[in-house]
Amino acid sequence: MATIRLGDVAPDFKAQTSEGEIQFHDWLGDSWGVLFSHPADYTPVCTTELGTVAKYKPEFDKRNVKVAALSVDGLESHKGWISDINETQNTTVNFPIIADEDRTVSELYDMIHPNASEKATVRSVFVIDPAKKVKLIITYPASTGRNFDELIRVIDSLQLTAYHQVATPANWQNGDDCVVVPSISTEDIPKHFSKGYKEIKPYLRTTPQPNLN
Ligand code: BEZ
Repeated sequence: MATIRLGDVAPDFKAQTSEGEIQFHDWLGDSWGVLFSHPADYTPVCTTELGTVAKYKPEFDKRNVKVAALSVDGLESHKGWISDINETQNTTVNFPIIADEDRTVSELYDMIHPNASEKATVRSVFVIDPAKKVKLIITYPASTGRNFDELIRVIDSLQLTAYHQVATPANWQNGDDCVVVPSISTEDIPKHFSKGYKEIKPYLRTTPQPNLN
């Protein structure tokens, strides 16, 4: 069993998926990635989640994020289930679902928590940056469907930090002011942020979201 921590390189693997074989790192290319696991095919909560992700595809595309799902069921099972997802969620599944029958990927990513279930994966989410570093790990129980608005919100925050040197405060939403990262001195803020800033405390400086006009 591997333990993956933030900042680690996301383990690479080869896998069969509903869209053909992938070598994970090659498949990611220069994109950001989301890898998320499901307890099993033909389960109710997962059906709604995968339908939701299919509808959110344009949001992931806008952010240069590739998404892959995983369960320990096989390809034939995935194919039948995808038809059900398309029918019941009124969508078309447009991302690969990994068939991890031998649990190689689940074990690499520590997605099976034996005290929750010996056989099924929990609902893990990994966000991976273009350098293949793990930037976010969230684990939900099987009975709780994930909030994909929250996932998009976190990706926006991660990308603001990566590209614009800001962090995001509690309950931040797209368009709200951001926090200047501590590594930038207050004196240097004007060099980095043309929209101005507020110094609430020497360690708490905010600036309008830099990537908006
Ligand atoms: C599921 O849909 O995966 C699920 C629903 C209730 C409890 C556990 C799993």
